[in-house]
Amino acid sequence: MRFSLLLSAGLLAPLAVLAVPVGNDGALHARENLCSLRTPPVLCQANSSVTVEETAQRAYKFYRAFVVDGDPRTMFSLIDSTYKQHHPGYQDGPQPIWPLFCSGNKIGTEQNTAWCFDASTNMSYAQYSTTDRWRWVGGCVHEHWDQGESIPKSKCYKLDAATS
Ligand SMILES: *[C@@H]1O[C@H](CO)[C@@H](O)[C@H](O)[C@H]1NC(C)=O
Ligand SMILES: *[C@@H]1O[C@H](CO)[C@@H](O)[C@H](O)[C@H]1NC(C)=O
Repeated sequence: MRFSLLLSAGLLAPLAVLAVPVGNDGALHARENLCSLRTPPVLCQANSSVTVEETAQRAYKFYRAFVVDGDPRTMFSLIDSTYKQHHPGYQDGPQPIWPLFCSGNKIGTEQNTAWCFDASTNMSYAQYSTTDRWRWVGGCVHEHWDQGESIPKSKCYKLDAATS
C-alpha cells in the first residue's frame, strides 16, 4: 500500500515537511549511517520468479537508495553475495564496497542524475558524475561496471506511473 493512502490530506501536509523517502513497497526508508555494522545488514537472495516489471521497479529502488536517498540498508538489500566487480582495485562481493556507502551519502537529486533499466539486457544504469552499469540476475544486482558506460536512452523501461 502506498504510504500516502494511509493518510488524509490534512495529515499529509504537515508530514510532507519531513521529506521521508517512500519506497516502492510503501515502506519508509530513512537515511541511516550504518558504519557501526561491519557487514551489510541484509543482502539480496536470487529468486528466479521475479518478473521483468519487478526487476525494473527494483532497479529504480536501487538507484533511489544509492544516488538520491543515501539509504545503505535498502541499497545492499538489492545486491547479491556475488557482486562481480569490474572496477579495478576492488575485489568481488558486496563487502569491499560497504565502507563506501555505509554512511548514507547522497550523491544527487532526481533532477540532476538519471537512471535506466534495459529489459533486453537486464542491465540498469545510474548516471551522476560517472555512469554505473549493473547486471540483474534473479531480481538482484549481480555484476557491476563503471568505465565508459552510457545510458541506452531509447531502451529504458517505462515504469507504471503508480510506482515511479
Ligand atoms: C519470488 O518472487 C516471486 C515473484 O515476485 C514471489 O511471489 C515469491 O514470494 C518470491 N519467493 C521468495 C522465496 O521470496
Ligand atoms: C533477463 O532476465 C529475465 C528474468 O527476469 C530472463 O527471463 C531473461 O532471459 C533475461 N534476459 C537476458 C538477455 O539475459
